[in-house]
Amino acid sequence: MQPLIYPDLPGPSPLLRGYAGMQNVILRQKKTIRDVDVRGRRVLVRADFNVPLDEDGTIADDTRIRASLPTIRYLCEQNARVILCSHLDRPKGVVEERLRLALVANRLSVLLDRPVVALRDCIGPEVESAVAGMSGGDIVLLENLRFHPEERADDPAFAKHLAGLAEVYVNDAFGASHRAHASVVGVPEHLPAVAGLLLEKEVKTFRRILEDPERPFAAVIGGAKVSDKLEVLENIISRVDLLLIGGGMAATFLASRGYGTGISHVETDRLDAVRAISAQATELGLRLLLPRDVVVAERLEAGSPTRVVPATEIPDGWLIADIGPGAADEFSHELSRCRTVVWNGPMGVFEVPAFAEGTRRIAATLANLRGTTVVGGGSTADAVVRFGLDDRLTHVSTGGGAALTMLAGRPLPGVTALDDAEEP
Ligand code: 3PG
Repeated sequence: MQPLIYPDLPGPSPLLRGYAGMQNVILRQKKTIRDVDVRGRRVLVRADFNVPLDEDGTIADDTRIRASLPTIRYLCEQNARVILCSHLDRPKGVVEERLRLALVANRLSVLLDRPVVALRDCIGPEVESAVAGMSGGDIVLLENLRFHPEERADDPAFAKHLAGLAEVYVNDAFGASHRAHASVVGVPEHLPAVAGLLLEKEVKTFRRILEDPERPFAAVIGGAKVSDKLEVLENIISRVDLLLIGGGMAATFLASRGYGTGISHVETDRLDAVRAISAQATELGLRLLLPRDVVVAERLEAGSPTRVVPATEIPDGWLIADIGPGAADEFSHELSRCRTVVWNGPMGVFEVPAFAEGTRRIAATLANLRGTTVVGGGSTADAVVRFGLDDRLTHVSTGGGAALTMLAGRPLPGVTALDDAEEP
């Protein structure tokens, strides 16, 4: 059996750390909205208005809409004619009435306190005539891009039609920038293409913590499946001083060290990859901590019986639902000594109150940390919003897949497609 803290050695290997710093293939410097003249011009803004909807079709969380406001306000101040576009959900290239963007236009209009006109399509003669009738400071929102199959197919003709509406293209859709779709990578081939203020903030934040973090630097990685996070683990392991593993994916780590994991989901095809990560931690001299105890349940649902057990003694017929109180104490103690923390993936099934405590403890620890705290998007962002702690963190990303892509050290197609900034 291998230990859970693995290994407990004093410090990082400076040689390998230096090499990590050379691995930046994420970004070159890109032009932003401040580098182009947008005054009075038609500006196509790709936003990510892919917001969660309640069952009655209302917007459940408008965080992504609010995050787009600085760019839109900036453009209005410049008297630009603002043409917004986005996808919503995953319609399969056909119109779905419940996924029309009029509801987003209404919310934007309230937030901006000015009219936002929702158009009924994103290309075609009616759209062209509406855009031709715009004055400086006007805002229109094109219809859901994914009503056209050409959007996801990155169809060149579709991209050209979209580009034809404007004189400048702004990508402010960080959350969609890992998608090589027409509005993300096709349109910038035809127009001056720059980053919006949200995209700039997101990319700079991830870039800073990956390339030049204040140390000690810790990563907290959780979530259900280790396969979703392998690339992230492989990239950040050479950058962090401390790596904490929680969530259902801890089961695969425990299994890789020979421990029983009950009926927890173990990704047997990832055991070697997980062992390689542990071995690399040893080689680099960084501390990789697994939870010392876990909350186990018979089922991952409210009302299921639960027990707290050492992580090395998970009983048959039970599965990991959360990190235990001892692990939460230990993780919090370790994190409180760090100056930079990046967190991606909840510690347990936080949607069920009985399994939420581990995730809540990590969120609270980060909220009280005097340092830089960055939360990857998706369910981790949902969790900190649910606990009311999002405002107390340095940055809560609006991107799920895009944040994972950045943490994995891979380039975002939507950023690559933008114009390079001039050399300083
Ligand atoms: C997201 O919600 O992560 C983005 O809006 C991208 O959506 P997609 O996964 O449907 O492309």
